[in-house]
Amino acid sequence: MDEKIKLSYEDKVYDFPLVRGTENELGIDIKTLRSKTGLITLDPGYKNTGSCVSNITYLDGENGVLRYRGYDIDDLANNSSFIEVSYLLVFGEMPSEDKLTKFENDIRKESLVHEDITSILKSFPHGAHPMGVLASLTSALISFNPGSVDVNSDDKMYHAIVQLIAKFSVISAWVHRKAKGLPLNYSDNSLPYIENLAQMMFKNPNEEYSSNSVVTSALNKLLILHADHEQNCSTSTVRIVGSSEAGLFASISAGISALWGRLHGGANQAVIEMLELIKRDGGDTSRFMEKAKDKNHPFRLMGFGHRVYKNFDPRAKIIKKTADEVLKDLGIVDPILNIAKNLEQEALNDKYFVDRKLYPNVDFYSGIIYRALEIPTEMFTVMFALGRLPGWIAQWREMKLNSEPIGRPRQIYSGSKYRNTERA
Ligand code: SDX
Repeated sequence: MDEKIKLSYEDKVYDFPLVRGTENELGIDIKTLRSKTGLITLDPGYKNTGSCVSNITYLDGENGVLRYRGYDIDDLANNSSFIEVSYLLVFGEMPSEDKLTKFENDIRKESLVHEDITSILKSFPHGAHPMGVLASLTSALISFNPGSVDVNSDDKMYHAIVQLIAKFSVISAWVHRKAKGLPLNYSDNSLPYIENLAQMMFKNPNEEYSSNSVVTSALNKLLILHADHEQNCSTSTVRIVGSSEAGLFASISAGISALWGRLHGGANQAVIEMLELIKRDGGDTSRFMEKAKDKNHPFRLMGFGHRVYKNFDPRAKIIKKTADEVLKDLGIVDPILNIAKNLEQEALNDKYFVDRKLYPNVDFYSGIIYRALEIPTEMFTVMFALGRLPGWIAQWREMKLNSEPIGRPRQIYSGSKYRNTERA
């Protein structure tokens, strides 16, 4: 039976269909609201508004559930490779061995980046934020790969996807090397994706390099945990930019800029800066807790709270456990890990945080692992973008395949009534 909802307005009653999701989430289909009633909806931040029907990722914020194409995040993080999960997100099914080998080889074929990109990279001033450089280089890749723009066939779309996955890991590593003033490394096609990323980021020309399994295992898990998260700010940006028929690379470049913000992906950098501030201040977390609760104080507990999760972010649980394992395996004692754990305990027992259902999110512990891997704080959000790339691609591809209309929200006007420039 067609489920529907009734809306009464000005002595008329209107029917609007209900849309039921796989896990029984319900939404009101208001495609005909304005044509039938003359009304629009108003929902700043889209807290109650769905932008699309999607088959890719399922979140249950109340119960802390996250699944990519039906697979639980814990299962994938512990049993898959990042490239396998990338294939799953983009194409919808886990790849067979043959399909995975082809996907990996097609990516390897595209792992050279035009040498002129290094000139653009070198033109940035020292201290340029890596996210700004990454967004610029991603956009610059369009000029060197013009066939990636009009992807009006499956083959062209597939080619643009493998090009982007291949080249994005190279330019991300180059952004890291530039930030540290180190010579650039090139892709080594004899290595699997994660080991190749590690050597591009960490290999130095004056010494032998061998990848550390603790590092590559942690990177694999972190990239999987960041790979998609349904209609978050940066993914919605990628979808709406793509809906204007801007190309894949341009849409991803826009997503990188959205992710940069400290309320979104930039929070992983802001968390470490906050923890270091607390450490410099003597480690008294309760003073910072009070500031976080003070509406008149701009300080927020970075890495805490989430628009959807009103329970533990399942990714935060896995990352917290991985942080303990990585620091132990690398023999590192990092005092800010204890500060983070103390903050978490205080918040979980504080009425302000409990009443507002504020729990640690994906960004709260991830920076502690990146620090242990000797990745600079300003590179943390680039690592987030590296993980999120397949999710952005999957969501962009779904929007294209569904031929979704250009995104163009309405508004309620509150400005001046008609007036003219004639002098009174
Ligand atoms: C990511 O959407 C996604 O899925 C994003 C992401 C992904 O994978 O793509 O999960 C990645 O972006 C995680 C979030 C990273 N950001 C941070 O850690 C920044 C700190 N968190 C907050 O800024 C905030 O919690 C947001 C931005 C994450 C969510 O903001 P909302 O949903 O708009 O919630 P809100 O600001 O309306 O907060 C509700 C209440 C408010 O208090 P009251 O007005 O009700 O009294 O909770 C308070 C807020 O002041 N609050 C906080 C807080 N977060 C919310 N108070 C102190 N510290 C915080 N961190």
